[in-house]
Amino acid sequence: MAKSAATKKSAPAPPSTAPRPHPLDPLSEAEIALACDLLKSLKTLSASTRFAFVQLEEPPKADVLAWDGVKQIPRCAAATVFDTRTGATHIGVVDLGKRAVVSWIEHPTKQHPYGQPPIIIEEFFKVGDIVKKDAGWLKAMKRRGLSDAEIALVQVDPFSSGFFDREAEKGRRVVSAVSYWRENARDNGYAHPIEGVVALVDLIAETVVDLVDEKDIVPIPKRARNYHRDAYPATRTDIKPLDIVQRDGPSFTVEGWHVSWQNWSMRLGFSAREGLVLNQVGIRDGKKLRPLLYRASITEMVVPYADPTANHYWKSAFDAGEYGLGKLANALELGCDCLGHIHYFDIPAADDNGVPMVMKNAICVHEEDYGILWKHYEFRNDTFEVRRSRRLVVSFFATVGNYDYGFYWYFYQDGTIQCEAKLTGIIQTAAVTPGQPYPWGGMVAEGLAGPTHQHFFNARLDMQVDGDRNTISEHEFVPRPWGRDNPHGNVFDTTSRVLARERDAAREADGRTGRFWKITNPAVKNSVGNPTGYKLVVQPTPLMLAQEGCTMRARGAFATKHLWVTKYDPAERYASGNFPNQHAGGDGLPKFIAQNRSIENADIVVWHTFGHTHICKPEDFPVMPVEYVGFSLKPTGFFAENPAMDIPADKNAASVTEDGSGCCG
Ligand code: CO
Repeated sequence: MAKSAATKKSAPAPPSTAPRPHPLDPLSEAEIALACDLLKSLKTLSASTRFAFVQLEEPPKADVLAWDGVKQIPRCAAATVFDTRTGATHIGVVDLGKRAVVSWIEHPTKQHPYGQPPIIIEEFFKVGDIVKKDAGWLKAMKRRGLSDAEIALVQVDPFSSGFFDREAEKGRRVVSAVSYWRENARDNGYAHPIEGVVALVDLIAETVVDLVDEKDIVPIPKRARNYHRDAYPATRTDIKPLDIVQRDGPSFTVEGWHVSWQNWSMRLGFSAREGLVLNQVGIRDGKKLRPLLYRASITEMVVPYADPTANHYWKSAFDAGEYGLGKLANALELGCDCLGHIHYFDIPAADDNGVPMVMKNAICVHEEDYGILWKHYEFRNDTFEVRRSRRLVVSFFATVGNYDYGFYWYFYQDGTIQCEAKLTGIIQTAAVTPGQPYPWGGMVAEGLAGPTHQHFFNARLDMQVDGDRNTISEHEFVPRPWGRDNPHGNVFDTTSRVLARERDAAREADGRTGRFWKITNPAVKNSVGNPTGYKLVVQPTPLMLAQEGCTMRARGAFATKHLWVTKYDPAERYASGNFPNQHAGGDGLPKFIAQNRSIENADIVVWHTFGHTHICKPEDFPVMPVEYVGFSLKPTGFFAENPAMDIPADKNAASVTEDGSGCCG
C-alpha cells in the first residue's frame, strides 16, 4: 500500500500477499479516512461535528499475544466526536473490515459528574474572537488603558477551566480565557499578563457567560522579554561544533512500527491523547526474547496552581485528557531537536474535521553515548577493562500552550528502562503592582511573578515480566536494633511484603527508607532460585499539595499517590478517567482501585505518578531551562549476571587529545 498522502475513503483491501499490519500498529491514513467517513455517513453527522480523538481501538490482549502473524485480527478505530452546535458527544467504534459502526455511545456532558471532550485546535482560535466581541471584556481592557489597536493585539489564551460547581459551567462546554498585552504580534505575551480579568467562555453558545473584572487594577508589566533569536543578537562566540558521527549508520533497525536495538525489541504506537506508546517491549537473553511490558505510555498530566487570586486559582491543566499530548506533538527538527543518525516516525492522524493528515517527524529514535557502563582496573595483574554505555532514545515533544514537554524513553545495555519528562517553555505569569509583595510564588522580573505550581505525570505500565502473571512487592531498608543478631550494630534489614490487593497498593514513596517496588513473576525462577523481577525506582517528590475537598485534588487524584496497581482491564486506560475536561472529580485511579481486586500473580498494570513542584525564579524567564523528572525500571534478579559483559572492547577512533594524537594510530 502507498505510504503517503491522504488516500481518501474506500481504500481497497490490501492484496493477500501484502504483510498484515501488526494488530497494534497505529491506524494508517487510509484507515483514519475510512473510519471518519463511515461515522459521518452511517451516523449522519452534521458539518459541525468535530473529531477530538481518533485512534486504533486495540484488539483484545489475548488475541494479540496469540497472533500468528497471518490471521487477520479485525482492525477497529475509536473516535471521540462532538457537535460544536449542540455539544452532543459520542464515542464511536468502527470495524474497518466490516465497514460498520460496532459501538456508538453518547457521553452525557450535561449531567454530574460532567466531563467534556478535549479542547480542539479550532477552539483555540475561536475563543479570542468570542472574547474580543464581549462588551464587558472590552470595557475591562479600556479600564486598563488599552487602545483599540492594543486590544486587537491582545493574546487570549483558552485555558481548561477546571470544575468549581458554578452554575455558569454546569453542563456547558466552557474554557476560561486569560489575556496578555503584546507590543506586536511577535511579542512574548507571557511577559505582560493582564491581571484581574478572566472570561468564562461557552464554546457552544459562543458567548462569555461569566466575566471577572477586578476593581483594583494591577499595572501591566510592559518590558519586552522575548526569546526569539533577534532578542539576543550578541550570542557567545566560544562554542565549537560537537558532532555525533555514526559513519556506519545506527545500530538499531526499524521495520514498520517495530524497533530493535541490540537485545531490545519493541513496537511503537501513538495516540492523540497520550502521544508515544510503547508496545510489547522485550529484551533478548541468549536465544530467548523475554517480555517486560505489554504497553507503556504517559496517560495523563495535571498542573495545579497554588495562587488563590482570580486569574490563577482554577488553573489545573490536564494536558493529555484536556488537550491531547499526541495532537500537540512537535515536528522535530534534525540537527536541532535531534543529533546523530535519526529515524523519524511520521504519524498518521485525524484533524478536527476527521480528515487524515500526517504529523511529520513526531517520534525520534536515535542512539546516545552515556558515559561509562562498567569498568575495572586490577593493579595486581594490570587487567584493565572498560565499556562505554549507550542508550536507545525514543522520544517526542508536545507544546501545550505556554509549556513544552519532552517525553523520553531510554533503553540501556544493562536492561534498564528509563522514562524522563523534560519540562521547558514559558511559565504561567502574574502581574504584580510594583513595590507590592507576591505571596503566591516567585518574582521573575519587575512587576512580573510566577505562581507556584506542581507538574504531575502518570505513566501506565502494563507489566509483563517474563509473562502475563506478575506480583508487586514493596521493599524498605530498616535498621536492626543492637542485639545478639547484631552484635556490632552494623546490620540493617530489607523488608519485603507483597501488595496483594488494589487498595493495599496505592502507595507513596519514602526517601528515608529507600522504599522501592519490585514486579516479579512467581512462576519463573532466576539463577539464584528467586522469582525473576524488575524494580521500579522512583523519585520521592511531593505529591498533590492541594487540600482534601479542593476540586483539583479530586479531579487529579492520581497525583495523590506515587504508586497505583490495578488488575488489567482494557477499559481502564487513563489515570484521570476518560473525560477529565470539566469533570467534577472521582474518576480514574481511585475509582479503579475501589474494586479492590486481587493483584497477586495476576495480569497487573502499574501506574506511577511522578512530578515536579515548581517555585518560579528569574532564571525561568523568558524560557525555562529543562527540568527533568522521571523513573526507571531496573532488572533485579532478572538476568543471571551483568547482561552487558559481551559488549566488545572498542576504542572510539575519533577521539583525540589536545595535541591532536588519536587513540588508534
Ligand atoms: Co512549572
